[in-house]
Amino acid sequence: MLKIGNVAAPNNVVLAPMAGVCNPAFRLIAKEFGTGLVCAEMVSDKAIMHGNKRTMEMLYVDEREKPLSLQIFGGDIETLVEAAKVVDTQTNADIIDINMGCPVPKVTKCDAGARWLLAPDKIEQMVSSVVAAVSKPVTVKMRIGWDDEHIYAVQNAKAVENGGGSAVSVHGRTRVQMYSGTANWDMIKEVKNAVGIPVIGNGDVFTPEDARRMLDVTGCDGVMIGRGALGNPWMLYRTVRYLTEGVLSPEPLAEEKIRIAVLHMDRLIALKGELVAVKEMRKHLAWYLKGLTGAARVKDVIMEMESRDEIVHILNEFVEKLAAGEADEQTAEEAAVH
Ligand SMILES: Cc1cc2nc3c(=O)[nH]c(=O)nc-3n(C[C@H](O)[C@H](O)[C@H](O)COP(=O)(O)O)c2cc1C
Repeated sequence: MLKIGNVAAPNNVVLAPMAGVCNPAFRLIAKEFGTGLVCAEMVSDKAIMHGNKRTMEMLYVDEREKPLSLQIFGGDIETLVEAAKVVDTQTNADIIDINMGCPVPKVTKCDAGARWLLAPDKIEQMVSSVVAAVSKPVTVKMRIGWDDEHIYAVQNAKAVENGGGSAVSVHGRTRVQMYSGTANWDMIKEVKNAVGIPVIGNGDVFTPEDARRMLDVTGCDGVMIGRGALGNPWMLYRTVRYLTEGVLSPEPLAEEKIRIAVLHMDRLIALKGELVAVKEMRKHLAWYLKGLTGAARVKDVIMEMESRDEIVHILNEFVEKLAAGEADEQTAEEAAVH
């Protein structure tokens, strides 16, 4: 179990916030696959304050997704506080998370995202201002530092704790690293040893065994999984099962992968309409198909399609062919044995 403030998650596997990915369609699938806590994609504080329709839609939380953490980003204390108040009083989210890890220039040039990592003194003030303004637990997701010369993970996590933050998630990379190199789990351990609030480790957990290793190496309280779950909610299920029961369940069959991919697409269509959802689904379908024999050709065909039914038809045909191919191989093997 993972306890963040007064919010209890049934286990310590956390779906990372991912822009363009963690909308209600995928989050609900992650939840149904057993994930303890799901995080929503980041939303700009200023956009929340302007309250336009698209932004307010991004704040929608289905009851079945709970407990859920909703992430906001911004560079000014005042606007972060105002946005947090909206999340606190007008959404179904359980936790308000503040982004201090986003490395993209569009975000950091507004002093938001990873830019905060250079100012431990400002962090405490910002967190305490947000905490004072809301009743939901406030957490922070950060990278370990800006670059190798500015690694303030411990000071920054302490600032979050002193400001009244209820937990901190640490991605073991600097801003400058973006996604290169490997995540520094030793730094996650240092943070864990330095603060009393729950620490959620993040970075390069791609298998259930990686998750176990991260917990053992760092002593952290939860494991956050991002890229490993793209097109692969089974990774979340298998990790929960491995951590709670010590059982390594099998990888899904192609048919199961396609069934969930179609469920994902249908939920996205219900949220955003077919035109938008089908386009958005293309990258997800590519992730779901990854590793399946002959997937490259199917991917090329699907990328051009705009209709849900056409895509489903191609996917079903692909699975049938795959099953027939596997059956042929099996027959050949059996013939060879006899
Ligand atoms: C497509 C994508 C979108 C992301 N969007 C966000 C975001 O909105 N907020 C955030 O804090 N991190 C975001 N991240 C970073 C992830 O939450 C996570 O920290 C990072 O991917 C490292 O974890 P991993 O090695 O398990 O992927 C994003 C990552 C990816 C791949």
